[in-house]
Amino acid sequence: MCGIFGYVGTRDEAPQLVLAGLKKLEYRGYDSWGIASRQNEQAFARLLVEKHTGKIGQAMTSLPASHAALGHTRWATHGGVTQANAHPHLDCQGRLAVIHNGIIENHTELRRELLAKGHTFASQTDTEVVCHLMEDDIRDETSTQDGCERLVQALMRVFRRLDGLSAVSVLDPQERCIVAAKNGSPLVLGYSQDGNYLASDSSALLEHTRRLTFLDDGQAALLSADGIRVYDATSGLREADTRIWDITWQEEVEGLDGFPHYMTKEIHEQPAVLRRLAAESSAQAQRLADEIQQASTVHFVGCGTASNAARCGEYLFSRIASRQANCVVGSEFGYLADFLDERSLVVGFSQSGETIDLLDSLKSAGRRGARLAALVNVEGSSLYRLVDHPILLLAGAERCVLATKSFTAKLGILLMAAYATQGRLEEGRALLQRAADEIQSFLTDGRVEQVRELADRIADAQHLYVIGRGPSYPMALEAALKIKEVSYIHAEGFAGGELKHGVIALVERGSPCIVLAPNDETFRSILSGAEEIKARGGYIIGISPCASDVWDEHIKVADVGEGASIVHAVPPQILAYELALRRGLDPDKPRNLAKSVTVK
Ligand code: F6R
Repeated sequence: MCGIFGYVGTRDEAPQLVLAGLKKLEYRGYDSWGIASRQNEQAFARLLVEKHTGKIGQAMTSLPASHAALGHTRWATHGGVTQANAHPHLDCQGRLAVIHNGIIENHTELRRELLAKGHTFASQTDTEVVCHLMEDDIRDETSTQDGCERLVQALMRVFRRLDGLSAVSVLDPQERCIVAAKNGSPLVLGYSQDGNYLASDSSALLEHTRRLTFLDDGQAALLSADGIRVYDATSGLREADTRIWDITWQEEVEGLDGFPHYMTKEIHEQPAVLRRLAAESSAQAQRLADEIQQASTVHFVGCGTASNAARCGEYLFSRIASRQANCVVGSEFGYLADFLDERSLVVGFSQSGETIDLLDSLKSAGRRGARLAALVNVEGSSLYRLVDHPILLLAGAERCVLATKSFTAKLGILLMAAYATQGRLEEGRALLQRAADEIQSFLTDGRVEQVRELADRIADAQHLYVIGRGPSYPMALEAALKIKEVSYIHAEGFAGGELKHGVIALVERGSPCIVLAPNDETFRSILSGAEEIKARGGYIIGISPCASDVWDEHIKVADVGEGASIVHAVPPQILAYELALRRGLDPDKPRNLAKSVTVK
């Protein structure tokens, strides 16, 4: 959470570069934003700062030309959404600008200590303690090191005093450099001919450079126009070796490509992503299948939408591969990890590869000797680097805060891997191809218009229910999650069989209820559930290849066998998007959410 972007180099439009970088990172948090830059060509270089509440949108920066700037887009943790709490934060002299992603757990004690020394605080944030700690450290430091080296050494000393998981970066206009340190929250460094960059996600750097270093936990960095130095933040010593990656990861198409929002653009990219996986990921799917076959126990772990993909995988492996995989949400996995050993396989599911609950789960599994694999979208992300066997989702950058194409991409790999365990990889690949074709037809043959008209009718609903059985149960959870997080309609997904155990009490006359009904062994039973809801006045929306009298609205999809879950994911995604539009909401940036959840 929170986006960080910095530049120092020979180009003199640093504030504009930083603003453009923040726009690309805004999905990490959009409560407020700010930029600090070094005023150029002054005998005594000054810090210039602008801060704003709300989303960046089409904002321009009023900061003048500069060769160094540092910016931040905030997802609030400590302190409300106010201009004072927006980053960057300054020390008492207004000399240093500090931005931060994460939580400083001992900020209360540090603030008390700093207040007692006479510092004044301008915000309620935990971040501001770093400004004043840096101020004291630099004032008391008598070393003869060059200015940038002194700055990075000061940051490392301060960083060692912070508890919790953070990424911190500092701009001192007296020095032509930016310094940074991280523990837990991601930071990526980018090398280019005309300067060097810093960002919390690689996706924001790729238009400038593909030569990246991913800082490890406990490392610090010094960026100047001439180069980048990496340090061990505990010892303060330069790292002997710094790996520079050459990233091959591609965006699908840069920008909105004519679509009004990233959410609908990314929904429409799904056929291409699934076809790419079918064409290019057979070896990866086979390798995952082999790992699963060799393991004594298999655990699928993810958070939010990724956990719904993981749970769907649990069903697919049971049905297709007769293989048990245990699905657990990332935040709970640690409480269930005692039985893991070196014969266990833990597979992490993540778009960003930076979700802290997931990373913690996999690290604890690794400490117990378990083998680690991942289905992950971002090449070079913390998860990608952590596991023995990373499988890329090949979905391209996902900019909408809601996960869509990264979700169906995970299902695509799982489908192929489940078949691969049976020596039937080709069958899995063909099904994935068919699913991609059906989604392509759905998006182009008029059925989207049907979903739009449905959205017109139910946009004022207060509650909405989704039911499914078997693999359609996690798909019901996912459909409800999509609808609630973007339209703010209270939507709940249930296992169809659970209805009679309590949920049915919620159904009222006109309550919209989506029924996921693939043409499989769940069909008859889920239809009974639909009848029971209808008998109590519910408005039944069937997503199914099969006709039925119980449907008040039938969204017909093709029967693609075990690929049904992938196809059934799409109509609820479109419905969620259309509901958000009708309720006047921004589908790409729902309230209170951030794409990459790097705090506990
Ligand atoms: C929902 C959504 C979230 C994420 C979750 C995990 O649309 O996007 O529920 O799926 O925060 O994120 P990743 O996949 O990046 O680990």
